[in-house]
Amino acid sequence: MSYTLDEVAFLRENAAAIDTAAEDLEGTKKAHLRDVAKLQAQFGDYGRAVAELIQARSSGKLPQDWLMDHDSAQQATPPAVATYRAQFLQERNVELVHDLTCSIGTEGQAYRPGAYVGSDLDASRVAMARHNIEHPVFRADALTTTTTAEVCIADPARRQGGNRITRLDQLLPPPADLLATHGEMAIKCAPGIDHSEWEGLACVVSLDGGVKETCLYTPGLGTGKRAVVLTTTPEGLHTDVIEDDLDEEELPEAGPIGRFLIDPDGAIVRAGLVRHYAAREGLHQLDPRIAYLTGDRLPHGTSGFEFIEMVPMKKLKAAMAAHDVGSLEILVRGQDVNPDQLRKKLKLKGSTAKTLVVTRIGAKGVAVLCGPRVVSSEGNYAP
Ligand SMILES: C[S@@+](CC[C@H](N)C(=O)[O-])C[C@H]1O[C@@H](n2cnc3c(N)ncnc32)[C@H](O)[C@@H]1O
Repeated sequence: MSYTLDEVAFLRENAAAIDTAAEDLEGTKKAHLRDVAKLQAQFGDYGRAVAELIQARSSGKLPQDWLMDHDSAQQATPPAVATYRAQFLQERNVELVHDLTCSIGTEGQAYRPGAYVGSDLDASRVAMARHNIEHPVFRADALTTTTTAEVCIADPARRQGGNRITRLDQLLPPPADLLATHGEMAIKCAPGIDHSEWEGLACVVSLDGGVKETCLYTPGLGTGKRAVVLTTTPEGLHTDVIEDDLDEEELPEAGPIGRFLIDPDGAIVRAGLVRHYAAREGLHQLDPRIAYLTGDRLPHGTSGFEFIEMVPMKKLKAAMAAHDVGSLEILVRGQDVNPDQLRKKLKLKGSTAKTLVVTRIGAKGVAVLCGPRVVSSEGNYAP
């Protein structure tokens, strides 16, 4: 639920009391009603809003002193992804960006003062963004021109009234209308959006293994496809960019299984850059239509599975017993197999952990038995 402007003002003005009250709550799902009652006793009619704020902050996705409600916190771009977009635009010498659907200001925190302006149709979100970021934020319809910024960012809403919007033309505001109104743009879309017809750059971004978005940049900002794999490491955020910069004859053909089987990051798969990644890492596909890769080393900073043997689907039970398998990670691509049902059916009784990759090579369904997931190390990563 959103807040009224009066509630936003209350939350802003009572920040210290709210922080203290949050420390006193039980904070479990079971105790939720008790916690809300406590907050209502302390904050009266504002108790509901205070409870929502504390709950929304608990995801830890955004700075703890920010104002946010449940929906805006959920919709917020992960800060690392917003930072990548800001860097991308900075590399193109964009000096001023206008975020047309800024919500509570998540994108704004990635820009230096003077480089970002935010606006949104929702007055309550504008009020929260003004508290959260040190940039100009105002209320405006994204389908009007209100600044002279060189590039506009839009992140159309994919949910309305709790329901998911699946059609591109029903996003709010619709991308076609945004493009008709503005010049160069970055339009943030759902990861699975069909970008095959897009004339600019389709950039699919993942963070720590989860695909977060496909950002469509207009042709003035780039063309082709790009996968961006962001990984949090103890040394900081690692960014790996895979581009479609190779010709067809430079891309590897499918071939036999090597020492490792690798399930490439979802951003690479969704961007359609599996063979480009394979070429860079000295890998190849097992089947030209399936995204699994194989080779003799794991790409640096990734994980994969050491190959044991190919098992005909009908002989799986016997293979599990022969290899003393007690627990099994099951990956499926290209076959209609439910991992949980298959695991149950196999009635594993052994003592070792293994991985089973169920896929197809040509017309044939195969199961590739591998060791447990291993992380790249000095001994197995491609230098
Ligand atoms: C998915 S959210 C944006 C999230 C934001 N990028 C972030 O990372 O926090 C979509 C936003 O679009 C706004 N919106 C919807 N229609 C709009 C319109 N016609 N003009 C301006 N904003 C609009 C909504 O109020 C909502 O805040």
